[in-house]
Amino acid sequence: MLVPLLLLLALSNALEIIGEESDGHCSDQLILNPRPHSVSILEFGAVGDGKTLNTIAFQNAIFYLKSFADKGGAQLYVPSGRWLTGSFNLTSNLTLFLERGAVILGSQDPSHWETVDPLPSYGRGIELPGRRYQSLINGYMLYDVVITGDNGTIDGQGSVWWDWFSSHSLNYSRPHLVEFISSNYIVVSNLTFLNAPAYNIHPVYCSYVHVQNISVYAPPESPYTVGIVPDSSDNVCIEDCSISMGYDAISLKSGWDEYGIAYGRPTTNVHIKQVHLQSSSGSSLAFGSEMSGGISNVRVEKVHLYNSFNGIEFRTTRGRGGYIKEIIISDVEMAKVYMAFGATGQCGTHPDDSFDPNALPILDSITLQNVIGTNITIAGSFIGIQDSPFTSICLSNITLSITSGSPTSWVCSNILGFSESVFPEPCPDLEISYTNSSQACFSLINPNGKSAVL
Ligand SMILES: *[C@@H]1O[C@H](CO)[C@@H](O)[C@H](O)[C@H]1NC(C)=O
Ligand SMILES: *[C@@H]1O[C@H](CO)[C@@H](O)[C@H](O)[C@H]1NC(C)=O
Ligand SMILES: *[C@@H]1O[C@H](CO)[C@@H](O)[C@H](O)[C@H]1NC(C)=O
Ligand SMILES: *[C@@H]1O[C@H](CO)[C@@H](O)[C@H](O)[C@H]1NC(C)=O
Ligand SMILES: *[C@@H]1O[C@H](CO)[C@@H](O)[C@H](O)[C@H]1NC(C)=O
Ligand SMILES: *[C@@H]1O[C@H](CO)[C@@H](O)[C@H](O)[C@H]1NC(C)=O
Ligand SMILES: *[C@@H]1O[C@H](CO)[C@@H](O)[C@H](O)[C@H]1NC(C)=O
Ligand SMILES: *[C@@H]1O[C@H](CO)[C@@H](O)[C@H](O)[C@H]1NC(C)=O
Ligand SMILES: *[C@@H]1O[C@H](CO)[C@@H](O)[C@H](O)[C@H]1NC(C)=O
Repeated sequence: MLVPLLLLLALSNALEIIGEESDGHCSDQLILNPRPHSVSILEFGAVGDGKTLNTIAFQNAIFYLKSFADKGGAQLYVPSGRWLTGSFNLTSNLTLFLERGAVILGSQDPSHWETVDPLPSYGRGIELPGRRYQSLINGYMLYDVVITGDNGTIDGQGSVWWDWFSSHSLNYSRPHLVEFISSNYIVVSNLTFLNAPAYNIHPVYCSYVHVQNISVYAPPESPYTVGIVPDSSDNVCIEDCSISMGYDAISLKSGWDEYGIAYGRPTTNVHIKQVHLQSSSGSSLAFGSEMSGGISNVRVEKVHLYNSFNGIEFRTTRGRGGYIKEIIISDVEMAKVYMAFGATGQCGTHPDDSFDPNALPILDSITLQNVIGTNITIAGSFIGIQDSPFTSICLSNITLSITSGSPTSWVCSNILGFSESVFPEPCPDLEISYTNSSQACFSLINPNGKSAVL
């Protein structure tokens, strides 16, 4: 009995160390560069009546502010009002500030949205082959961009897109609200996001992305709307956010089958803390299913997951290649979640017929600990892949109260793992005691961002 206790103690000490020192991107105080220049969107002829299209005003303002990028940067100020616009691009060393009462409204006319090439790690649009609509607000190869405000709002008015998606009348894959591609040092904070056509915030091939203190909402029936999607990006921090979505609240990705494998850029060094997540038809917190560039070194703590279909879910399938590994999730409160934990090796479609069915994904070193759940219907379903079982799945100190009449608590196949103090008692594949886990349970991310085992 003593050994597991000691292991658990060692584990909590390690966590404290992480909290204080290791993880530069989340625990550092966010210090924003002051911008010596500021202009208001009004100076570019914008009209905040909710009807006038302001795309040209945004484009001209940002073109003008580009000349300040090497002079300390600049701020574009958006006052209270309803500012209808089509898609526009940002520039480096820029702050976009939305005053209280300022609402940027996405146009409901698709001709106001440019189309762009698919992402190389996806090879095509996610929903339709070929090109895709550009996001409402875009950054391409930028440095030091802040989108913030005094609780201003970015409202995608996505209902038309949801209808086109559901009736199969889209000509290109749906746009997102904010997308950064190949950009570094990005901050999104102190705002409200509403009604995204698809994703809300999508950093791809980015480093040092900090999302803090935002609220994100789309209605339960909105198809496949997702909150924040770190995608082939590293050093990402998401904290103090409240996200309620039709599909996933936060979803970590890294490319699709042969395209993602060839591009080979993982999502790594991610820290998520103090978030409230709700998902109507997907998962509060999802990994994959597009994960072909790999997902590793993810630390999630102090999260509240509620009124959701799935709580935490790992998704992959044959043909993906890549890996999901070195994930530690702790201090989770779940309430009214249909399935608390899921890991599946049979989830997701393929971009085309050229995927390699022998590209087997790896799922390894996943630690879930200190979880309390109420009103849970199914505790967990872990279904690995026969030729590539999921390994080192470690569960510790988990108490779930299962609703009466639930058919079964746990379902497992093709997985290997360990558990300690888990109620209800997990399936035999996970019943091996932590005592024997010394080489196998992933427990901390050390200060150099390298994985370590106990
Ligand atoms: C942005 O600011 C940084 C730091 O002052 C500077 O090194 C960089 O050249 C600027 N970027 C542009 C595009 O001017
Ligand atoms: C915005 O940036 C994209 C590249 O990401 C480019 O294709 C497009 O032409 C730009 N649009 C404008 C109006 O500059
Ligand atoms: C979060 O943002 C709101 C405005 O949206 C602001 O009033 C509040 O002070 C912010 N909290 C933190 C911790 O930054
Ligand atoms: C921010 O704005 C949203 C939507 O306008 C509102 O529901 C929310 O209460 C506001 N939050 C704060 C902290 O002011
Ligand atoms: C798709 O394209 C067709 C033909 O150009 C057009 O009539 C239709 O309005 C487009 N649909 C959407 C949702 O943009
Ligand atoms: C968010 O708003 C609060 C309150 O105004 C402010 O103290 C904080 O610096 C802001 N945070 C960011 C990252 O802009
Ligand atoms: C077990 O988890 C609960 C809930 O998260 C927490 O309060 C408690 O401290 C944990 N116990 C240990 C030994 O870590
Ligand atoms: C579970 O959910 C039901 C239905 O929403 C509710 O009546 C009940 O109070 C909840 N039970 C707990 C323990 O939260
Ligand atoms: C631990 O592993 C050893 C060797 O693999 C085995 O003999 C032993 O029965 C295991 N103990 C437990 C508690 O699983």
